[in-house]
Amino acid sequence: MPDASFKPVRKAVFPVAGLGTRFLPATKDVPKEMMTLIDRPLIHHGVDEAVKSGCSEIMFVTGQGKESIRRYFEPSAELVSVLRERGKNELAEKIDRIHRLARFEYSYQEKPLGLGHAVLCAEKFCKDEYFGLILPDDVMIAEPTVLCQLEAVRKKYNSSVLCVEKVAECDVRRYGIIDAEETEDGVFRVKGLVEKPEPEKAPSNLAIMGRYLLSPSIFECLRKITPGAGGEYQLTDALSLLLEKEPVYAVLYKGTRLDCGVKEGWIKATVIKALNDPQLRDIVIEAVKESGIHI
Ligand code: G1P
Repeated sequence: MPDASFKPVRKAVFPVAGLGTRFLPATKDVPKEMMTLIDRPLIHHGVDEAVKSGCSEIMFVTGQGKESIRRYFEPSAELVSVLRERGKNELAEKIDRIHRLARFEYSYQEKPLGLGHAVLCAEKFCKDEYFGLILPDDVMIAEPTVLCQLEAVRKKYNSSVLCVEKVAECDVRRYGIIDAEETEDGVFRVKGLVEKPEPEKAPSNLAIMGRYLLSPSIFECLRKITPGAGGEYQLTDALSLLLEKEPVYAVLYKGTRLDCGVKEGWIKATVIKALNDPQLRDIVIEAVKESGIHI
């Protein structure tokens, strides 16, 4: 039943404690989240999406070596004043807007014990309200934003909502997979979940992607789980427990996902984003032509 006291989600959590080993040596001294995708760090793309979705409070669950994320979202008075002195007012404004995008908070995850553990580190911040969880490796091109698409379903069903995509059978072992019943076009009531199953054990090919809207009851469930797939505390296992108490829905989101969790995906994301940008499109096409490489 739609809830008359529905409150739009205003908090978003970003787990950013991962070591970025797939991108070494690039990530030896620069967190993956701070590597540039087109014109800004990867994490800034995720924050833009959260803000566009109505979130005004953001928590980063950070770990060792991630200090530059905090610095990036802090005011940079010196840089801004130098830019103004040099008459670069537009650029100064752009830089000064970054720390005003939202209110930023930080929680420190001492050891990378899994996504479930990272989310539990945000418990105090979320308190007793629904919150968005954004895995910044998945860059989403979508209108409305994927988080807004999830909100529309939460509004209707008053439940946690996951974002899913149909994947090839051989890829189910990379994701959390749901067992679900379609209640309306592209919307599913979740009946079960399994983290990174072997293809023959997967209940479907509906894979969870990096956007979630979670009920605060998830924290109680996160405290109960034991290490699961890969020896880590899995959010998927906590969601299975949540299902025993509350309904959970999933949405086949409309949009394009750019998987920046792997090098190949990062390269694709750079090309696709550039081709979508009117100022960069011709540069990419020209560069390919000039290279003499026949495509
Ligand atoms: C995590 C989740 C998994 C989900 C995936 C989406 O896995 O545990 O259920 O499908 O994110 O990117 P990870 O990518 O951290 O291994």
